[in-house]
Amino acid sequence: MISDIQSEILRLKKEKKVTILAHSYQAEEITEIADFVGDSFQLSVMAQKDENPVCIMCGVHFMAETVKILSPHKKVILAHPQAGCPMAEQIEPEFVEYFKKQNPEYTVVAYINTTAALKTVCDVCVTSSSAIKICRNIPNKNILFLPDCNLGAWVAKNLPEKNIKLLQGGCPIHAAVNPSEVDEAKALHPNALVLVHPECVPSVLEKADFIGSTSEIMDFAKKSNAKEFIIGTEISIAEHLAYACPDKRFYALSKKLLCPNMKLTSLPDVLNALKGEGGLEIEMDEQTIQKASKCINAMIELGK
Ligand code: 13P
Ligand code: SF4
Repeated sequence: MISDIQSEILRLKKEKKVTILAHSYQAEEITEIADFVGDSFQLSVMAQKDENPVCIMCGVHFMAETVKILSPHKKVILAHPQAGCPMAEQIEPEFVEYFKKQNPEYTVVAYINTTAALKTVCDVCVTSSSAIKICRNIPNKNILFLPDCNLGAWVAKNLPEKNIKLLQGGCPIHAAVNPSEVDEAKALHPNALVLVHPECVPSVLEKADFIGSTSEIMDFAKKSNAKEFIIGTEISIAEHLAYACPDKRFYALSKKLLCPNMKLTSLPDVLNALKGEGGLEIEMDEQTIQKASKCINAMIELGK
């Protein structure tokens, strides 16, 4: 039974001094046993503060890498070895090195959904909740924003004073939603507010009542006086909100909003990782940690 596995996980993690971090796209039964649940930015800050020697990440590969970069002395295990984010693999470090040589006047901003190798050649990271603030705080006017052109276009729209260059990357899950789906959802639920993640295409964002990261969407819905919401991000967010706010109604904007990578992790994966019988331990050489940490620490500093 689910509750038996959960009890065993809770017992073992206490006994072995293991911290379990879960991204908010994880299923309810996973978030229930996690020490901390949050968006990418919150997870990276938590990882830095946490004192346990071992951390299990229920999320995708770049999130576990971020924990390792920020806490290199820790043993960091990705609960499901195959859980990756396709967006993270879209750009090679060699491209950024070439771009920098040709365009030394640009600051290169990497979305946190990138590999550790890419972070070693970028100047600063951002997450969806910190992207506007961090790009505003970068002294340079010229910014190359990668890889997500939708998030980047949203940042550029909010910061007209900056010259932001974009590439053709992005999240295949969020980018698949189209504006007619917003119209259809609104027609079905005319009193609902539309809350969307900035990884969606600009024509979807234009129709939203609120745009924000996963945590910002959840906070907005919890605090709002409205009773119905159309949720334009991964389907788990609508599910978590339905548990958290039983007096409100939540509708997924599209059936396409299901990230198969985020859904790979199961409770037995977490249990096996705790027992040392599963998961993927993140290994990284010192040079990568040192260079990539500059990029992530710059994000934490500029985001304060
Ligand atoms: P957040 O930064 O909002 O947590 O989003 C992570 C992610 O993978 C979005 O698709
Ligand atoms: Fe990557 Fe998109 Fe899945 Fe987020 S929802 S982990 S960006 S594929």
